[in-house]
Amino acid sequence: MTRHDRGRAAARNDPELDPDREHGDGGAPAVLLHGVGKTYGGGRAGVRALRDVDLEVRRGEFVVLLGPSGSGKTTLLNLIGGIEPATSGTVVAGGRDLSGLDEDARTAYRRDTVGFVFQFFNLVPSLTALENVRLVAELTGRGDRERAAAALESVGLAGRGGHFPAQLSGGEQQRVAIARAIAKDPELLLCDEPTGALDLETGRGVLRVLQDLNRRGRTVMVVTHNAAIAAIAHRVVRMRDGRVAEVTTTAAPAAAGEVAW
Ligand SMILES: Nc1ncnc2c1ncn2[C@@H]1O[C@H](COP(=O)(O)OP(=O)(O)OP(=O)(O)O)[C@@H](O)[C@H]1O
Ligand SMILES: [Mg+2]
Repeated sequence: MTRHDRGRAAARNDPELDPDREHGDGGAPAVLLHGVGKTYGGGRAGVRALRDVDLEVRRGEFVVLLGPSGSGKTTLLNLIGGIEPATSGTVVAGGRDLSGLDEDARTAYRRDTVGFVFQFFNLVPSLTALENVRLVAELTGRGDRERAAAALESVGLAGRGGHFPAQLSGGEQQRVAIARAIAKDPELLLCDEPTGALDLETGRGVLRVLQDLNRRGRTVMVVTHNAAIAAIAHRVVRMRDGRVAEVTTTAAPAAAGEVAW
């Protein structure tokens, strides 16, 4: 805990002083990691992707994760999203201790609580853009056509609902993946490089959508190599060699429209 964090912890006892009051409900955190490690494979060939990670994300917080390639950012999102289990430590998210869940319970958590934008979009090639957006939302009973169409429109793809992924550019596919995640209106939205394939104007549009969702109380975590995006975060987490190297708090996060890269 940094000195700054300690000061904030003290301030939290006084609601009038709490700098996070506007984006935290003061209740249970959205995400809590304690002593989390992740090793892929075993023996001498094992890769330690995460080591001893402690992290708390409050409900309604917008967190940006930065760090060099291979530092463990995607792995961290995958653990929080219940896509794979931690090797050690505890991961609590959406009020559940994920470490104790079996495969079925983790699937239910992913379905009901989490929206995921993968680093490599994971669209279903045989479904149109609109069908891809509806598919995931349908699993949670929010798959109506209007909602899916509105999500596509919010990422600037109103006219492309009938196109298949192969008929869309990389950036357009990425936006379909974002529409798919937001159509669920998830409690926790996890995005891996959501603006990676986008130009400035389109990227800003996507950030605006994420920021809007966050302002409506959803917790958002964004992994990126683009340090400029850190400006819109309440908190920035820097990863290095599988560890959390630094956590900084932004007093007044910028509006998505102000970000430039
Ligand atoms: N399925 C896997 N099997 C073995 N090693 C893996 C696997 N997934 C990730 N790793 C390793 O774990 C480490 C962290 O990977 P991770 O994908 O989390 O990095 P990252 O920070 O997201 O990188 P990038 O910015 O390139 O996406 C890397 O050394 C990577 O090679
Ligand atoms: Mg990654």
